[in-house]
Amino acid sequence: MPLVTARQLLDEAAKGGYGVGAFNVNNMEQIQAIMAAAVATKSPVIVQASRGARTYAEDRYLYHLMLAAAELHPEIPMSLHQDHGNSFDTCKSAIALGFTSVMMDGSLREDGKTPATFEENVQVTRRVVEYAHERGVSVEGEIGVLGGVEDGHGAGGSGLEHVTDPDQAVEFAERTGVDSLAIAIGTSHGAYKFSKKPDGSVLKMDILIAIHKRLPHTHLVMHGSSSVPKDLQDVINQYGGRLKPTWGVPIEEIQLGIRNGVRKINVDTDSRLAITGAIRKVFAESPEKFDPRDYLKPAREAMQKVVAARMTQFGQAGHAGDYTPTPISEMAKGYASGKLDTRPSRAAR
Ligand code: G3H
Ligand code: 13P
Ligand code: ZN
Repeated sequence: MPLVTARQLLDEAAKGGYGVGAFNVNNMEQIQAIMAAAVATKSPVIVQASRGARTYAEDRYLYHLMLAAAELHPEIPMSLHQDHGNSFDTCKSAIALGFTSVMMDGSLREDGKTPATFEENVQVTRRVVEYAHERGVSVEGEIGVLGGVEDGHGAGGSGLEHVTDPDQAVEFAERTGVDSLAIAIGTSHGAYKFSKKPDGSVLKMDILIAIHKRLPHTHLVMHGSSSVPKDLQDVINQYGGRLKPTWGVPIEEIQLGIRNGVRKINVDTDSRLAITGAIRKVFAESPEKFDPRDYLKPAREAMQKVVAARMTQFGQAGHAGDYTPTPISEMAKGYASGKLDTRPSRAAR
């Protein structure tokens, strides 16, 4: 199956009432882990690469690894998505490379740190939407700013400084025509999201529900959605790691989100934790080993396990065979005719 757009995956997820995990990758083992989990659970999937991942893996390596995944697993609908594009040019280069979906994160300026104004965000996102839709590629925007900093990207803070305003979310969706919308509800990237199990004072599911009520046809995206499970933390600390006590986003809150319009759930940290724990374990228990396969294989298996669990918990499991791929040339026609117009005032229902 060719790579499909995230828009198609999310439209199907909306019909089926489930969410689709979007898992970050940097290398072959992570792509293999996701594909093995998708095959085992029969899941459609979004594979995403940050700017840092594109630099680390080098664009062409990354793209050809994805083509290999599509060739080996034609039964799995999958999308290759640019995570946190910081500028028009980043999104344009991703599209040139063959990504079928891009995120224009205009919530931050191009430096990836400074919160942008609403107008700046609208202008750059609208420009990316026009360019991408002409080519059949889907676009995710972000309104509100997440907390934390990952690999130099992020505004820092707890995640509560720039929670999304539902009125602005409606105006943003109307003025940009994005296919999906990431919202800030108190989550942050990385392992240190919450200092105890989050309640409504720090994880604003009420805001998410309010946005969904105002934008019932917009696919919502939850970033910073790793659950940071205690068992994965424990493995790391048991074998010499030094993670401080921390809490992630509970699965039941994500599932509440899915019942309220969340269609894409971004997960990176849980995979990182699983990989690191598995490698630490091999190093601690078998210090004589030096063949990378001896630790990369268990690392890949550990990531596969956590990704498969998320696929089941998000509800995408079992849906891989539900539909046939729409080529991006057809998607482009759908955008041109207005059939795929998502603006709240015009969406054809
Ligand atoms: O956006 C956050 C993702 O976890 C990607 O992180 O920029 O370190 O690759 P990264
Ligand atoms: P986590 O750090 O919670 O895995 O979030 C990943 C993410 O939002 C990538 O865009
Ligand atoms: Zn993110």
